[in-house]
Amino acid sequence: MTKDRDGAFRAAPRMPFHNGANLTRRSFLGAAAALAGGWPGSAAAAGPGIPFGAAIQAEYFDDTGYRDLFKRECDLVMPMNELKFALVQPERGAFDFSRADRLLEWSERNGQLARGTTFVWWSTNPPWLEAIEDARDLERALVEHIERVADHCRGRLTSWDVVNEVIAHDPEETGGPLRDTFWVRTLGPRHIPIAFQAAARADPKARLVLNDYDLEFRGPRFDQRRAIALSIVRQLQDAGIRIDAVGIQGHLYAHQEIDVEALARFGADLKALGVGLLATELDVIDFQIPGGTVEVDAAAAKVVGDFLDGLLGGQRPETVITWGMTDRYNWVEDVMPRGDGQPCRPLPFDAELKPKAWYADLRRRLAQG
Ligand code: XIL
Repeated sequence: MTKDRDGAFRAAPRMPFHNGANLTRRSFLGAAAALAGGWPGSAAAAGPGIPFGAAIQAEYFDDTGYRDLFKRECDLVMPMNELKFALVQPERGAFDFSRADRLLEWSERNGQLARGTTFVWWSTNPPWLEAIEDARDLERALVEHIERVADHCRGRLTSWDVVNEVIAHDPEETGGPLRDTFWVRTLGPRHIPIAFQAAARADPKARLVLNDYDLEFRGPRFDQRRAIALSIVRQLQDAGIRIDAVGIQGHLYAHQEIDVEALARFGADLKALGVGLLATELDVIDFQIPGGTVEVDAAAAKVVGDFLDGLLGGQRPETVITWGMTDRYNWVEDVMPRGDGQPCRPLPFDAELKPKAWYADLRRRLAQG
């Protein structure tokens, strides 16, 4: 891996382009602009405003209160975990789409949009995959995975997180632009263009997304992470490889300051490159907010409001997605619980399925969008 922050792929050998993906910069920007005019393939696409979505989990699907929230509130749903590598291909060549299909078939019956996450991540890889040591074998496994999964889902997903969390957590500390992952160690930085090329071939209509976290806060680490995201976008484009949007996860620390101007500038910079923007995993992390429900929800409203100011300030986001709908089931409680023993309140609806004030504001702003 290179130490040059702008040189994520520079050390990589040239990729042979497949005919179908050998687009000039001009032609794929044109295609992206045409697609950006509307989401393909669903009644919900026709409505005004920015689509709202949420991530749903198969294991809670039988909780009707939970399931009905998604049906009632969402223009879009996305399987939270069911399309991740280890769940879809637990053994090499043995694919299991049953969980994802259950959710996608349900959302299709509701006339909802859907999107997918993810082909490349440092987490949730099956043991057989991480046992691969040979770069050529890993490239084959990655391309085969993308082809099979994208093919299975073709026409059903508006977009894919092609790569997730590839940017170094703290680029200064790491001394390089990319996170040190199994993918980087075995295949090098070129796993990113390989994944985007394979996805573009396998699902020419789905929008292809670079997804990452910590792209909205104030401070040098976050400036660097935004710059690296832009650099990856430019390098893909310069190589003639299609990238349609950047996904900002939006796991918002309520005690941290959103850099509204920098976030808006980031959206505008992407727009200038012909690349869209979406929020993919919005929720609020409140473990450093003292007090009770009132204080926590006020801090959440502030951080979500600032986030939306920045997000909407640079370009019209393609969609805003929360990482679940109700505090009843949330990942924040598992990884960043509060020290005072109170439950976390990260999501639009509380554990009793009552909406938070910030959710109404969010919907109002998306409806105006
Ligand atoms: C999390 C899910 O919410 C959990 O259910 C799962 O156990 C682990 O993954 N960033 C991401 C998401 O990109 O995929 C993660 O989702 C949360 C952090």
